Amino acid sequence: MSIWRVKPVAAFEADMKKNDLKRVLTKWGLTSLGIGAIIGGGIFTLTGIAAHDYAGPALALSFVIAGIGCLFASLCYAEFASVLPVEGSAYAYAYGTVGELFAWFIGWNLILEYMMGATTVAVAWSGYFVKLLHLFGIDFPIWLCNDLTTATEKYAELGQGAPNFAFNLPAFLITWVVTYILVKGIKEAAKTNNIIVIIKVAVVLFVIIAGAFYIDTANWQPFIPTEKTIIIDGVEKVSFGFGGVLTAATIVFFAYIGFDAVSTQAGEAINPKKDVPFAIVASLIICTVLYILVSLVLTGMVPYDQLDKSAPVASAFSENGITWAVFIITLAATAGLTSVMLVMMLGQTRIFLGMAKDGLLPNFFKTLHPTFKTPHKSTILVGGIISIVAALTPINKVSEMCSMGTLLAFAMVCVAVMILRVKKPELERPYKTPAVYLVGTLGVAFNLFLMYFVRKETWIAFIVWGIIGITVYFLYSKRKSNLNQL
Ligand code: ALA
Repeated sequence: MSIWRVKPVAAFEADMKKNDLKRVLTKWGLTSLGIGAIIGGGIFTLTGIAAHDYAGPALALSFVIAGIGCLFASLCYAEFASVLPVEGSAYAYAYGTVGELFAWFIGWNLILEYMMGATTVAVAWSGYFVKLLHLFGIDFPIWLCNDLTTATEKYAELGQGAPNFAFNLPAFLITWVVTYILVKGIKEAAKTNNIIVIIKVAVVLFVIIAGAFYIDTANWQPFIPTEKTIIIDGVEKVSFGFGGVLTAATIVFFAYIGFDAVSTQAGEAINPKKDVPFAIVASLIICTVLYILVSLVLTGMVPYDQLDKSAPVASAFSENGITWAVFIITLAATAGLTSVMLVMMLGQTRIFLGMAKDGLLPNFFKTLHPTFKTPHKSTILVGGIISIVAALTPINKVSEMCSMGTLLAFAMVCVAVMILRVKKPELERPYKTPAVYLVGTLGVAFNLFLMYFVRKETWIAFIVWGIIGITVYFLYSKRKSNLNQL
């Protein structure tokens, strides 16, 4: 059955030889890209709601739980990246092991991870940017920096009627700025990213070190507040207790998304077989340590029930009277979110490139710019879609779709790495996942377990998205696949 056909490893190797992209990324350049993709809206924004509503001071524990799960997936990603250092990421890995339809389905879900991830971050960026302007005494009209649903809620809070129209202009514009940088080229993008990553990590370290002086250990008592049930958006959720810590883990999972983006850059790495696995695991471990420390500091600085939900990091400092730090943190968050968008959008276009090279997507997605050598047409299309969705959609809708697609992709990679060990034990593996069957099984279990916690509405949208994907596969991709010619 042709839906199970597998792309031969020799075909991947032939693709790697034909690589048109410029190989400019070093081991630490790749790690920096990973950190650039990881630290963002998760730590700067979602920590507030996770600690305030679900975990209390045990937020650090939620980060440990989510981090361990991601570590399983990252160890599996790393082995694949060493065997198949190509730009398609999990899509390519599934194509080399499980089969074409699975691979297509993974690629289809990665669109959710990367496009919806970038969209989420564009909206979060807009929030921080508006805050930054506010520090300078400039205020955007609410209808021009929010989608209609959010703007309506905000006007209602002010006792005003609903607007007829709303458009998140900052989210729209930042997407086009990032698109422009990406069309100009990976080298420029990597340079910009390195600067931002340095600023971002410096501010996170600043938060940890400066904040440590303001910790009151009484705020950590009780570490896990007593469990209760709360209603959010009409759905019953467990708040606090160990159940609450788990729910918080599903929220802060978003903070880890991005380590896998390193694997989409294999085509631009100088030494992909060694450096991509290193960068995947290194960027994840560095961020996990930073996240745990930031959570301990935040919940130590402010009683968890007084943490601000929209800008928890900045407001923990303002509540302790360190107002000058608010400006630095807000500025760094704005810059930091830009680099997350950069890597997410870069990852999306490289996955499309991989799929187009295999014939599963039209040539449009693999056309490279004659001078810049970047897939400019696909980059502009991706930028266009993200800018419009970000301008018109509430953040929670897009972030949940992003997590859903990512969780499935992670689970699939864990399955695929075990399948490849059985089917092709003889392959050269520059990096091997330790205790692969244990790590792989735990990775699948963890990611599917988290999917279970996602809201019903998101599940429905996810299923509709999946049906569209499978239809496109049978109507277009299956017939156009390069494997038809083998
Ligand atoms: N991990 C990324 C963030 O937190 C997606 O923004």
